[in-house]
Amino acid sequence: MATTSFAGAPASPASGPSIFEPTNAGSTEQFRASYDAKPFEFHHGLTTSNPLFNLAAIRRLLDVPEVKNSIAYDATDVRVDQRWETISKIKPPIEEVFDQIATSRGWIMMRFVHRVPEYRAILDACLNEVRRLSGHDINQDEKSREAIIFVTSPNRVTPYHIDRECNFLMQVMGEKVINVFDRNDKEVVTERELETYWSKDNNAGVYKPQFQDRAFVRTMRPGTGVHIPVNFPHWVRNLDNVSISLSISYQYKDWKRKNVYQANYYLRKMGLNPTPPGQSPVLDYTKRVVIEAVLRTKRIIKPKK
Ligand SMILES: [Fe+2]
Repeated sequence: MATTSFAGAPASPASGPSIFEPTNAGSTEQFRASYDAKPFEFHHGLTTSNPLFNLAAIRRLLDVPEVKNSIAYDATDVRVDQRWETISKIKPPIEEVFDQIATSRGWIMMRFVHRVPEYRAILDACLNEVRRLSGHDINQDEKSREAIIFVTSPNRVTPYHIDRECNFLMQVMGEKVINVFDRNDKEVVTERELETYWSKDNNAGVYKPQFQDRAFVRTMRPGTGVHIPVNFPHWVRNLDNVSISLSISYQYKDWKRKNVYQANYYLRKMGLNPTPPGQSPVLDYTKRVVIEAVLRTKRIIKPKK
């Protein structure tokens, strides 16, 4: 498999690991079968020797307004089952949390780093490779794509949550343990949670410690990554080191999943027990059409301010 070389950064050595090679299978067939269906580990060639991914280079992104204005961060201890809105909002300035990341108990999510052209090149190169390996026409199905850099303090926990992105999380520096759960396990993730998530609450996923042993668990090290399919809940615990990770992800267009879950959310509110997405193409299609019509009507009649 060819090694992806990133623009503005040295390529991995020819004998080094390839980007997105599943370590437990080593075959394109396995990648294709598992893609957006179950988590898997892969190798990549991105390390802190890349001039874009050492702490000093990432620190400079704080001077880029379109990145800095989109940063989410906190500086406290957090539990795996903690809801985002209960995390303390009292925090030092971002520069201080970043510069003292070894002790600040910080979790820094730098969104939209791909607005900087050099990082955009990495995002596009990675997703091109995902497209090639998965056989999935990302360009056709995607609503948006995003590169995010996470910088976190030693032993910091990222609480259990659900995401709407199809994600490839790549570890660049430090080690951390990721726990990923199956969206198809209805004891772990209920339809009601997913409906609520897609309709009104990013915190709708509820951690169920009694099912912790069902998680796909991996210790992520520099040069390894984990694929997190859409809506697969996960939580992360940093080991005793500062961590840098790169998340490469994209969102599907709303018709793929969001619109059907939103329709089911309202049907359940009406006292019905709606059929989950994927079981009936006709029902899914009908729900998409109805929801899109409702949303279109809402936009039309929205009062002008
Ligand atoms: Fe996540």
